[in-house]
Amino acid sequence: AASCFARQVLAGLRVLITAGPTQESIDPVRYISNHSSGKMGFALASAAAEAGAQVTLIAGPVHLPTPARVKRVDVKSAREMLKACEAAMPCDVLIAAAAVADYHPQTAAKQKLKKNPQNPNGLRLQLVCNPDILATLAQRKDRPFCVGFAAETEHLLEHATSKLRDKNLDLIVANDVKRSDIGFNSDDNAVTLIDRQGQQTRLDKARKSEIARQLMGLIASHLPSPIN
Ligand code: CTP
Ligand code: CA
Repeated sequence: AASCFARQVLAGLRVLITAGPTQESIDPVRYISNHSSGKMGFALASAAAEAGAQVTLIAGPVHLPTPARVKRVDVKSAREMLKACEAAMPCDVLIAAAAVADYHPQTAAKQKLKKNPQNPNGLRLQLVCNPDILATLAQRKDRPFCVGFAAETEHLLEHATSKLRDKNLDLIVANDVKRSDIGFNSDDNAVTLIDRQGQQTRLDKARKSEIARQLMGLIASHLPSPIN
């Protein structure tokens, strides 16, 4: 992997990376979100910059420093993340590492919701679908080389392969989020990269920084020759 970086395998390429969770407002003090720490996406941004890319990192709410030589745009909701990605287009490579919330509350209350212990139904929130950022960008005429992540708790490789096809991706990184020793807030990860031909490359458990470097090398080796 070290030699890849000496060779600056991504020199001059524009790489767009999404990272972290999104927050979907319920009211001014509450939101729906998930356990994503953003560490994998930030490690990828760092590795891409090391490999010579011009990196734009669209980050959900996370507590992480901005990697060197990376342009960072902070967002909260999935809809803001999509807008920020569209504003950062065109790019050569998109890596969607964010754990985007699939739904947002239909209305975000203007004032803090008051509890009502008398209501036998509790509180019912109507949730509506968020846009799929990765699928939206993969459908564009100026579509970049698209790399998705599949966070799964079961049937990892099957679900990941379906997402690769359904979203029209070039590569997908299958990430087993049921294992407690990797993923989410952990500093380690272990993943399997799957390409369009169904070829699988397993990256054994390692620091996220190391997994990121290995992934950037593999992504570079899959790029079509006009860009590579
Ligand atoms: N993704 C996205 N926008 C969304 C949802 C997902 O860009 N609204 C991207 C993620 O960043 C990831 C890939 O799509 O690269 C797969 O995300 P995942 O949550 O695993 O899959 P979903 O398609 O949302 O399906 P499900 O959650 O039902 O498994
Ligand atoms: Ca999802």
